[in-house]
Amino acid sequence: MTFQWIVLLMTYYPEMQQKLRQEIESQIGDRMPTHEDRNRCHYVMAFITETLRFRNVAPFGVPHKAVVRSTIGNYTIPENMGVFIYQGIICRNDKDWENAFEFKPERFIDSEGQFITTRPKALIPFGVGRRVCPGEKLAIADLFLVLVRFFQSTQDYEIVLDSNGGIDADPNNANEFAPIEYKVKFMKI
Ligand code: HEM
Repeated sequence: MTFQWIVLLMTYYPEMQQKLRQEIESQIGDRMPTHEDRNRCHYVMAFITETLRFRNVAPFGVPHKAVVRSTIGNYTIPENMGVFIYQGIICRNDKDWENAFEFKPERFIDSEGQFITTRPKALIPFGVGRRVCPGEKLAIADLFLVLVRFFQSTQDYEIVLDSNGGIDADPNNANEFAPIEYKVKFMKI
């Protein structure tokens, strides 16, 4: 689903698609990508990270349970009560993020053009604590490799959002989880 968001966002913002393609062409070219390539593909990493922040595929995580009676502010949570953390909104709240509802990969790029690897405290698409997603590293590694191979195998094309019978696929209006069904066209450059 995250990859569906990535394709939708890159077709919705063609200038970003072009930047992704240019970086992959200049930094990797036609050879097989490796994990180390992540260190030179700053924009690709920022785009993936911003997708994970902006469109959470698991905004409520998994069900948790209070193992002891707990208090948070004025609230008391009894022992054994089921608890969900709405981490989707933590990833997009106005206190921690400037223009939180804007898709902006540049927020993860510093003034020297490098991907910012220090994770902001509100960037928690994989949850936090003991139950944090154990697949996080694998997911990010996969998203990078699949995205690079996707661009390499479509290098003569621009990927364009199909009008899809007038359905509005605007990723900004969408809910979390999965995007609505959309179609793309591969246009020969
Ligand atoms: C973009 C991809 C992924 C996202 C956004 C994601 C997100 C999450 C989130 C938010 C949780 C719940 C954390 C919590 O409630 O504290 C979770 C749990 C989990 N994830 Fe992922 N995940 C992803 C990929 C994967 C992959 C690739 C694997 C395995 C190969 C995986 C395996 C698991 C497992 C087993 C749990 C349950 C952990 C537990 O119950 O303690 N996830 N994931």
